[in-house]
Amino acid sequence: MIVPTGLKAGIAGVGVCLPDRVLTNDELATMVDTSDAWIRERVGVRERRIADAAQAASDLGAVAAARAIGHAGVAAEEVDLVIVATATPDTLFPATACIIQDKLRLKNAAAFDLAAGCSGFVYALAAGSRFVESGLYRTVLVVGAEVLSKVTDWSDRETCILLADGAGAVVLRPAAPGYGILAVKLGADGSGGRYLRRPAGGSRLPHTLKTLAAKLDKLQMDGQEVFRFAIKALPEATLQALAAAGLGKEDVALVIPHQANRRIIEAAARRLELPMEKFMINLDRYGNTSSASVPIALHEALESGRLQDGDIVALTAFGAGLTWGSAILRWQSPAGRTT
Ligand SMILES: CC(C)(COP(=O)(O)OP(=O)(O)OC[C@H]1O[C@@H](n2cnc3c(N)ncnc32)[C@H](O)[C@@H]1OP(=O)(O)O)[C@@H](O)C(=O)NCCC(=O)NCCS
Repeated sequence: MIVPTGLKAGIAGVGVCLPDRVLTNDELATMVDTSDAWIRERVGVRERRIADAAQAASDLGAVAAARAIGHAGVAAEEVDLVIVATATPDTLFPATACIIQDKLRLKNAAAFDLAAGCSGFVYALAAGSRFVESGLYRTVLVVGAEVLSKVTDWSDRETCILLADGAGAVVLRPAAPGYGILAVKLGADGSGGRYLRRPAGGSRLPHTLKTLAAKLDKLQMDGQEVFRFAIKALPEATLQALAAAGLGKEDVALVIPHQANRRIIEAAARRLELPMEKFMINLDRYGNTSSASVPIALHEALESGRLQDGDIVALTAFGAGLTWGSAILRWQSPAGRTT
């Protein structure tokens, strides 16, 4: 297949799915030794959404994906590939992407999952955009879907106040000249894996009564180490991706960061010397939804009119692995798309 020079993938549609159940800080304070004031001050979260006991990642992901497909105005048969970024797949296999492919009858689509912690969506966007740019595929669905509540230790006040459930999805298609994903930078430091992990349930430590009793099936985190890593990773990844796109921080209209902690975003803003108005924040209402947080925030930015045609947007995330990544886009309003 002949690849047109400079073809870029652009976001043609966005969709989200947030569970109805709202868990407030006051409610959490009845479960662990914490308070609304502490969580607001140290993290910035007021409330978060929690899935029903029966809901898995594919349930939220399929709804978000269907909405993104509808927004893009493409037919189910046109979807060539589904990539799902998740740390909380329905099952270790088959892939959650295959489950969503089946639920939405995307009969012409290949499907796979991608694990890169909270950076998963940006990694999946990078992977998906390459399929479009190469000319191999024309319509790629990228989903971030998480049900973190099921791997949360609800007696650990350092983690249970942060984590939440949700899904976001985008449809990638060829962008008009000058628009779309201009550059991506990804990185990893596996030596920091111990700072954020779910130890049991894989081939290293299969579930046993002992691992369950020790709660090794739940997420474990060294909050301070992750915090130190995040305040560096967020600005550095953004700057590196901007440089790869031949742009500077002064060109950025909006940074859509992973929604982990308001203080992490404030520290990144200081390092980047950008005003807080240039950062999309909605963690106060949704907490940390891991690989779903960037598309959920992107959707809100779009809905609230914070994205204008031609804007330079940075989608930047960091997370377990340790991993980080940033994608720089020249935003093309889906309604104004010509391709
Ligand atoms: C977890 C995190 C919120 C803790 O905030 P912090 O300001 O670093 O808090 P510290 O760990 O220094 O603890 C300060 C005090 O608050 C207490 N504390 C911790 N969690 C608390 C809670 N939920 N409620 C009340 N007090 C709490 C600690 O026990 C400690 O008490 P002490 O001073 O008596 O020992 C913060 O480290 C963080 O956000 N880290 C990054 C986490 C993250 O983003 N993870 C996902 C990445 S993808």
